[in-house]
Amino acid sequence: MLPCPVCWNNQEKNLCVLDQRLLPWEVSFIFCNTCEDVAQAIESLAVRGAPAIGVAAAYGVALGARKGKLEVERAIERLSRTRPTAVNLFWALDRMSQIAAGTEEEKLFSCLLNEAHAIREEDIAINRQIGTLGQSLLPRDGIVLTHCNAGSLATAGYGTALGVIRAAREHGKNIKVYADETRPVFQGARLTAWELLEEGFDVTVICDNMAGALMQKQAVAAVLVGADRIALNGDTANKIGTYSLAILARYHSVPFYVVAPTSTIDKEACEGSCIEIEERDGSEVREPAGHPLIPESFPVWNPAFDVTPHTLIQAIVTEKGVLTPPFLEKIIDI
Ligand code: MRU
Repeated sequence: MLPCPVCWNNQEKNLCVLDQRLLPWEVSFIFCNTCEDVAQAIESLAVRGAPAIGVAAAYGVALGARKGKLEVERAIERLSRTRPTAVNLFWALDRMSQIAAGTEEEKLFSCLLNEAHAIREEDIAINRQIGTLGQSLLPRDGIVLTHCNAGSLATAGYGTALGVIRAAREHGKNIKVYADETRPVFQGARLTAWELLEEGFDVTVICDNMAGALMQKQAVAAVLVGADRIALNGDTANKIGTYSLAILARYHSVPFYVVAPTSTIDKEACEGSCIEIEERDGSEVREPAGHPLIPESFPVWNPAFDVTPHTLIQAIVTEKGVLTPPFLEKIIDI
């Protein structure tokens, strides 16, 4: 069984976070006793993936509540500065803020902890529903290409894009997965390959620049990716490299599907250009997986995400249904 990426430790009353920086070599956990511990786990990518960040942040607010109502506001402010792109973070913080506003001081910690538990449990149920709906898009036998990690590790469990692959297997389908390595942090090679191999899936890692050759040589049934923020018109921010993959998919007539819970939709962003893209430290590019590749003096650009225009997306799979173009009205109504 896969380890839980974000779990409340009821004995110690702290948050247990699987340290994803060490995978696939080591399964090791970080114990967060304060909101600051959680913020640092998010910033350092120990916990990552839009839904998992939201769940962790919710527990971070609950941990802050131990010190009273004023600390809750500070915790929300601190956690909102960890990573700017995944809207699930802000969605979860809003939910926690609303609970805090309507709760008296003595019950603050227990009410916020219960809300964090609810966010976590709902996420797993939503992913299963997404999987059931999404698997209907896949053939009985076929190849699927995925990017980054939108799996169990990136959520409270089961996954979004990888949840669709799990559900396809549960429906008796035979899916072979290709996982883009996903430079510069290698979420595809390290995390997607690991979690699928742990469960006996047929998965093969490719370098990001091999995706075109794969589509040229093999019949790829679909590209499945997760999302960090979806704008009203369907433009989708996801891990850097997703946009290139969508262009390749269009050229090769391969359906390109975005798979995400409705908590990843930002109704305040009318289009992709409104989405803030996180830029991370150049050391991730200069020292991939901690191994020096180029000197510190070499300038690099390291955006963590890109935006795929809605025109390249065949469907957006959510727990409330499979949305097809034109997206705008369907997303407004969701
Ligand atoms: O930088 P990361 O690892 O947090 O980026 C993760 C992604 O881009 C995922 O595809 C996205 O968050 C969806 S996870 C279900």
